[in-house]
This record gives sequence, C-alpha cells and structure tokens, in this order.
Amino acid sequence: MPTFDEVYFSSDTIRDPVAGLAQLREHGSVHRSEVLSGWVTLGWRDCRTVLKERRIGQGDRIGALVANLPPATAADLHPLSDHMGRAISFLDPPEHTAQRAAAAQVLDAGLGQRIAPALAAVIDARCAAIAELSEFDGIDDFALPVTVAMLAAILGVHYEDREDFIGWVERIFSYLGSPQDDPQAAADCKEAYRELADYVESLLTRARAHPSARPSTLIELLTHPDADHGRTQADLMGMLVGMVQGGFETTTTLISNAIWLLCEDRDRRRQALADRSHLASALEEVLRLAPSLKLDARQALVDLTLDEVDIAAGDTVVAILIAANRDPEVFADPDSFRVDRRPNPHLSFGFGTHFCLGAPLARTQAAAAVGSLLTRFPNLTLADATVPWRASGLLRRRESLPLRVGARHTNGGN
Ligand code: HEM
Repeated sequence: MPTFDEVYFSSDTIRDPVAGLAQLREHGSVHRSEVLSGWVTLGWRDCRTVLKERRIGQGDRIGALVANLPPATAADLHPLSDHMGRAISFLDPPEHTAQRAAAAQVLDAGLGQRIAPALAAVIDARCAAIAELSEFDGIDDFALPVTVAMLAAILGVHYEDREDFIGWVERIFSYLGSPQDDPQAAADCKEAYRELADYVESLLTRARAHPSARPSTLIELLTHPDADHGRTQADLMGMLVGMVQGGFETTTTLISNAIWLLCEDRDRRRQALADRSHLASALEEVLRLAPSLKLDARQALVDLTLDEVDIAAGDTVVAILIAANRDPEVFADPDSFRVDRRPNPHLSFGFGTHFCLGAPLARTQAAAAVGSLLTRFPNLTLADATVPWRASGLLRRRESLPLRVGARHTNGGN
C-alpha cells in the first residue's frame, strides 16, 4: 500500500486529486505523514472532529516548527515566528477568545459595505486596464491587486504602497509555504519581514499620534486611546500578520480558481452568471473542489484515539480539507462541479473555534470581483489550459492564469 506522502504529494495528485484521494480513502481515514510530521485525517467527519475537538488545539505549533529547523534558519525567522505565534490562528482559549473578539470587531458585518466603494473602484480600474489588452494574467493583473486593495482597506495600509506590500508578503509567504529548507530564501524572508515590520510600525506610530474620531481600520482600532492597552507591540504585530496571513493567498486563490473553473466550462459559467445566488453557490463549489488551503493543522493536547488510531499528546494532526470536501459519504457525486449544490458543508473556511473570521468578506468580495470581470468580458477564455497547479501540499492554485480577452466586451460593471 502506498503511503499518504507518496500519493498526496505526487505530481499526479497535485494535477488531479480524484484518483489519489480515492486510493488513500480505501485504506481508512487516518494516515501517517512523515512530510507533515504527524497524523492526517481524510474523512469529512474526522476532519471536522480535528477542527472542533477541544482535546485538539493549536498547542505550540510555531514553537515545534521552529525547533525542527536548523539553528541558523530559526534565528532568521525571528521575530516573525514570535509574532506569528501570537496570531489568532495559533492561539488556544482563553487568549484566542480575547484576540478573536478584537479581530471580529474589525471584520464586522458592516465592513463589506464600508469598503465596497473602494473595492469597486479598484475592480473597475483593473477591468479598464484589461480592456486595453488582448491577453493578461488573471492572478497578477486582477486577483492579486483586488485582494490587496481589500486587505489594505481592512488593515489601514495605504493603497499607493501596494507594490511594496505585495513584494514583502510574497517573499515571506513563499518561504513559509515551501517544504524544503533554503537558507537563501530564509534570509530573504527575514529581510522582507524586517521591511514590512518597519512599515507597519510607522503606520502604528502615525495612528497613535493622530487617533481617528471614528476608528474603522484594524490599525486605527488597535491604537485608539480607548483600545485595550494590555497588548504589547509584538501582540499587535501578531494580529496584523495573522490578518495578512489569513486573507492574502486565500482570497487571491479563490478569485483566480473561480475565474479558471468558470472559464473552463461555458455551461457552468452561464449558469453561475444567471443571478447572484447562482454565483454565490458556484463560488462555494470552487471553495469545495479547489480549497485555497488544502489542509488545516492542529496539535493533540492530550492522548486520544481517532478512527481506532492512538494519537499521543503533542502529536501533529492535520485535517486534509481537499479530501474532506470530496467525501462521498457527505457529498453526492463529489467530484462534479454542481453550480446549484445545496447544502454545501465544505470545510474550506475551517470549522469550530477558528472558523474563518473573514469568510463573509471573502465571499462578497470574490463575488463582486469574479462577477464584474466575467460580465464585462463575456468572451474571456483560458489562453493556456495546460498551466500546472502549484506543487504545494498547502495551496490549491495554478502557477499563473493566462486569459484571452476575446473579440467583444461591454463597458458596464456587474
Ligand atoms: C477565500 C478566502 C479565505 C479562505 C479560504 C480562508 C480560510 C481560512 C481557514 C481554513 C481558517 C481556519 C484556520 C484554522 O482552523 O486554524 C481561517 C481562519 C481565519 N481567517 Fe480566513 N480565509 C479566507 C479569507 C480571509 C480573509 C479575507 C480574512 C481577513 C482579512 C481572513 C481572516 C482569518 C482570520 C483572522 C482567521 C483566524 C480565526 C481564528 O483563529 O479564530 N480570512 N481562514
């Protein structure tokens, strides 16, 4: 029987996960992974248990990761590793509860409406620029700038600084997302984080000096005189890094995967654009079949048993979301894209205590972006359908998204 690692990380499964996941499922839901240094679960029910079970939490996952690195690389990652360890995603209750409440204050229901005009302007400007081209890259020329505009508005980063911001974030996360230890990439990551941290510090200092009468961005809220003063500078950086980490690659990936999967099939695209509710449910199918994050990791806090496998306290346990989302016991015809699939209980935004705080925002902003682009360019097609999926165990995203504008386009938005 092939191991989980042999199947999951193989180029065949990266290209198309259907056969590989089915093969693994035949041998049960819980497997061992040497690459991920722990246990993995494939079934939807077990994955949900991993994400919601109080006996499984974040523990000290960042500490454990850093402890496994060569000392020079671990030193390069400081202070990023310290700040990330304070990000919401890596905390357990009670610290998690307080930080989540503060972040939820920013990502409240009204946020989508507040940032909608700024975002619509960016989508419009991108579409106007694309209208001048015959071909473009759906990631670099559309999904990425739209996502950065959204994050800039949430955090309080100046949109004019986006090129620097994108550069820093990409250099940091390309190192963190790669499995192998590359000292040069680690040093580059350290340098990029120092530049990002200096930049964010300057925004924090400016916001402290000129507190807003009606704070709305994360930076304004965290530095406001009425805010909780118990937070250290490292805690603030943790919050900000956590938000960028939570929203950047994930939303870019959702928008670009949606464009890909809808341009791939004319009928699917026509159905999705029939009305807003169809587009919303089509995006849920994109999230289910091509989840931005293919997995979600935890640490066992006590000894426990999962699907008859004994797991020791301190062991890593990873929910393989891309497998859970195709579990035939939960999803009928699991490998088909059904625009009208309802209910669609995919786990792509996580589940339980750490359920994605940005999910409502990601859903509405992705719908606005994808809806506008496909409506404005009705003849948009994939210029190269053979671009490979990124060879990553974590992200489900194509290396690039070459698109052809087509003969005719309309001037209206969505
Ligand atoms: C398609 C887009 C997105 C996807 C697929 C996604 C996915 C996820 C997942 C799977 C988790 C759970 C992590 C865990 O269980 O440890 C999560 C948590 C989180 N996400 Fe998202 N996310 C998206 C967009 C966003 C956006 C736009 C933001 C905010 C700007 C955001 C902020 C967060 C935060 C703060 C958490 C941590 C919540 C907690 O630990 O309590 N996400 N996200």
